[in-house]
Amino acid sequence: MKTNFVLSILLVMISAPLSWAQDLMPLPASITVNKDRLAIDESFKVAIRGHSDARLQAAVARFVKRLEGRTVYSFAPGLAVDDQLTTLIVHCEGPGLGKDVPVLNENESYRIDITDRQALLSAPTVVGAIRGLETVLQLLNSDRRGFFLPGVKIQDQPRFPWRGLLIDVARHFEPVEVLKRNLDAMAAVKLNVLHWHLTEDQGFRVESKKFPKLHQLGSDGNYYTQEQIKDVIAYARDRGIRVMPEFDIPGHATSWLVGHPELGSAPGPYTIERRPGIFEPALDPTREEVYKFLDVFLSEMAALFPDAYMHIGGDENEGKQWDRNPAIQAYMKGKGIKDNHALQAYFNTRLLKILQKNGKKMIGWDEILQPELPKDVAIHSWRGTAALAEAARKGYDGILSNGYYIDLIFPASQHYAADPLPADSTLTPEQAKHVLGGEATMWAEWVTHETIDSRIWPRTAAIAERLWSPRHVTDVNDMYRRLAVISLQLEELGLAHKKNQDMMLRRLVRTDDIGPLRTLVSVIEPVKEYRRYQQRPQTMLSPLTGVVDATLPDSEAARRFAFMVDAFLADAPRFQLYRSELGQMLADWQTAGAALEPLIDRSPALKEVKPLANNLSVLGETGMEALTYLKLGVPSTPEWRKASELKMDEASKPYGALEFVVIPSVRKLILATGK
Ligand code: ACM
Repeated sequence: MKTNFVLSILLVMISAPLSWAQDLMPLPASITVNKDRLAIDESFKVAIRGHSDARLQAAVARFVKRLEGRTVYSFAPGLAVDDQLTTLIVHCEGPGLGKDVPVLNENESYRIDITDRQALLSAPTVVGAIRGLETVLQLLNSDRRGFFLPGVKIQDQPRFPWRGLLIDVARHFEPVEVLKRNLDAMAAVKLNVLHWHLTEDQGFRVESKKFPKLHQLGSDGNYYTQEQIKDVIAYARDRGIRVMPEFDIPGHATSWLVGHPELGSAPGPYTIERRPGIFEPALDPTREEVYKFLDVFLSEMAALFPDAYMHIGGDENEGKQWDRNPAIQAYMKGKGIKDNHALQAYFNTRLLKILQKNGKKMIGWDEILQPELPKDVAIHSWRGTAALAEAARKGYDGILSNGYYIDLIFPASQHYAADPLPADSTLTPEQAKHVLGGEATMWAEWVTHETIDSRIWPRTAAIAERLWSPRHVTDVNDMYRRLAVISLQLEELGLAHKKNQDMMLRRLVRTDDIGPLRTLVSVIEPVKEYRRYQQRPQTMLSPLTGVVDATLPDSEAARRFAFMVDAFLADAPRFQLYRSELGQMLADWQTAGAALEPLIDRSPALKEVKPLANNLSVLGETGMEALTYLKLGVPSTPEWRKASELKMDEASKPYGALEFVVIPSVRKLILATGK
């Protein structure tokens, strides 16, 4: 066990310099690397052969811009004419199925063949070529001889056809530019569905020309005009990304009722919900006027959103308003509708007719799966792979989001382990075809335009890999190595997941002197799951500018610290080097903890993390003491270990909805001093 562990660390170290051809994310289905090397210099030229169209040309133009940005070369404008003088040939066979609107089951495959002389990217469709261009950009490397593309042969296609990112723009509104940069990032990691969660208790974010009170009264003025919606859809289409809207009904619907209380199951009046949570307001499924309204509204939306699917939500409707409404109860009795589930099923069948009339396929959350549900409705599982498999067994298409709730602040490794079709799945091949893929879900209770990128990226790239790459691609260390590379590359697209942190820290400290605070936030994380609200209650109107907002999920420093502690404790003589790096980190914590005190004293917004600053010093000091014992080879006393463990218990307490994530590793050091 121990030997294997050390061996695997050595292999990581040895293979690092050779792995340059594999900084790819998602990893392709097949890649072979050879010794060739295609130089990239000012003479770079790209040609389009075979099918060409505006979308492909725009994609190639974006590719060239990014290549120029990275290399700081100015390439001669225009496409190459002479194949002999062409660096990269993009050969596309045809437009593909989704010529006008990207479609599920588009052929997204491509091949790349790079030799000393030339790179060839070939694809049967424009979307395949777009996917391949991203891979070529990821292959770019450099050394003292210059920029180059490594000699490779790649054959690639996705494992699942549906690879999405849900962005909830209802809890917090996101400007169009935020969506666009996230679409760019999605394209960079080969995601192909933007699931646009447009309506909620807390906001109604789409302009309706038929019922303008919906957005006028339900959005605080923060909604997308229909022109903006079309603009986002076109932007996504250019990147081979479908845009699927969600109108979450009959629950999660308070904002609809502000302008249209007559649709509700209780008289109202209603106001926009400002708290997070699950609320009672629900559309009344027993009144014909409600269906007339939905028919007009959903038909308007069906024309606005060209995607084949419309998501009708359907989750977390507890039916409390239904229970209390005598007219609804009488209706149920009259129709023989036995409970609220059956009533929602009735509602869904009515919705389905409206969607079908508009040529749309219906998809909704787990809760819509009722015995009478027609088989052409798809299930979006937030409850788990078992629910998804059960739906597939019954013949329903489905996608997975359980395991991909990026709002819960779990590490990328955890999302990476979630598989829509796990190895132990008992589905037959025929049933397995119903599992279409999955979606990361960016629920937006606690994100703003400043922080949303850091909650989505880079972790979502690991989910993108799970949904694109072969199932056997599961090496977590290698995933993290490549994730760090991709994270930097996403910055070139304007993503603010890294840069906004310093800006937010400066605002908190109110000077440029953010070093100590940056050290603190590097080893803490926001508390997981739904604990943030319990520990630090806020509403949708609260500023999300605190330390918890500036702190990133999945601490890289903590991972590095844990890696070094494990290696050092497994084989101290071999990993002496890590002892000094560990010592440096611990010393930094101690120094930063002390330096934070005066900064906190003059910045009231930092007061909530004062106990964390103190504990940072304690962690540094205790860790240093442990390292000293280990260095001297003198066992610590049981009293010292006991006292140190108590300090760790104390430091484990969260403050400001933040908690240290290095404590298990410091505990390992403490424990090791007893031997
Ligand atoms: C959900 O998380 N209620 C879809």
